[in-house]
Amino acid sequence: MDSGDIKAVHFSRKTDTELFPVDRFGPEKAKQARAFHQSFPEYRETPLAELNALAKELGVASIHVKDESLRFGLNAFKVLGGSYTIGNYIAKKLGVSITELPYEKLVSPEVKEKLGRITFVTATDGNHGRGIAWTANRLGQNSVVYMPKGSSEERLHNIQALGADASVTELNYDDAVRLAKEGQDKNGWVLVQDTAWEGYEEIPGWIMEGYTTMAAEATEQLKGERPTHIFLQAGVGAMSGAVCGYFASLYGDEERPVITIVEPDQADCIFRTARANDGKLHFVTGDMNSIMAGLCCGEPCTIGWNVLRDHADYFISMPDYVAAEGMRILGNPLPGDPRVISGESGAAGLGFVAEVLRNPGRKALKEALGLNQDSRILCFSTEGDTDRENYRRIVWDGLWPSFEN
Ligand SMILES: Cc1ncc(COP(=O)(O)O)c(C=O)c1O
Repeated sequence: MDSGDIKAVHFSRKTDTELFPVDRFGPEKAKQARAFHQSFPEYRETPLAELNALAKELGVASIHVKDESLRFGLNAFKVLGGSYTIGNYIAKKLGVSITELPYEKLVSPEVKEKLGRITFVTATDGNHGRGIAWTANRLGQNSVVYMPKGSSEERLHNIQALGADASVTELNYDDAVRLAKEGQDKNGWVLVQDTAWEGYEEIPGWIMEGYTTMAAEATEQLKGERPTHIFLQAGVGAMSGAVCGYFASLYGDEERPVITIVEPDQADCIFRTARANDGKLHFVTGDMNSIMAGLCCGEPCTIGWNVLRDHADYFISMPDYVAAEGMRILGNPLPGDPRVISGESGAAGLGFVAEVLRNPGRKALKEALGLNQDSRILCFSTEGDTDRENYRRIVWDGLWPSFEN
């Protein structure tokens, strides 16, 4: 399906085949991740913004947006995955269960003494690396963080300020991941990467489990209201895979909401993999020039894709202005609605919803998605203004750097 410059692929719900199991991302397992996060002194549930005036304006029953800008003071959801993974890694090393390793034990001198000095290494567009640097810093451990070419200075400085040895490389995201892996292979560092590939699935699996905390919180905050539609933005597809898996497990595949995955058209590896639907992963290579920096990843996460292939309905490839529309709408609410400061990657889902509902040229897409006056929409604003200069350029001036509007 092609709706102008937005492209969509639809997967029919599978009923006759065995689906990729999602129990590990379901509500029971999510309790364990959430209990771990709750043990941190910074833990607070992030708000679920109820945008009633916007829902009315756009002609749907409700719109909720989970505001992850308030997560642990780090302006993005990613620390949920990084911290839970480092916790699990240490639990395994010490031969104990993660349930026996809450924050206060994790930072205790006995644990530190048993572990000695560890260096965690990763590649990041910003948010994941900040979560790893923050966790390593708390535990008195080291971190090395590689960022792709063109990464924002503010995002780099935020990571360096947490004591990480962080640098911007000349590589794209996926090659920066390979550089981080070399750090593991050559120096004995521990690679904590937020994407999986064949042979590297234990750590990213924990990262995905960590992300389920935000889905579990949102479910509780919805107080029994069941969303009919969930919109999730994807880089490698680990976050969307985890959250999609959570809801598929919670409601079951027959009853679950319509799940739509959105990506920038410059880095639409999940969309391309869905479009080809040939049992192989499809990559985007070279520079990926999108304002949605956190989504500029060219190689899908294997576990994430397996979940999305079997439990998601729509895959969308879209231009930057759609995310920019989301940022402006969330930052300038209608009277009565709360304000959500949402960064370029954070606003992608709501931006897509607004574009489909506001633009009469998207009628066919709106109907295909089944969006109407009874729709109850849930989006995740996964970051705040993590690059403030760029945020203002987009929201104030309606411009963004280096690539065309
Ligand atoms: C703010 C934000 N939202 C969404 C994502 C997408 O997550 P994933 O790469 O797991 O698809 C990222 C990834 O870095 C991100 O930083």
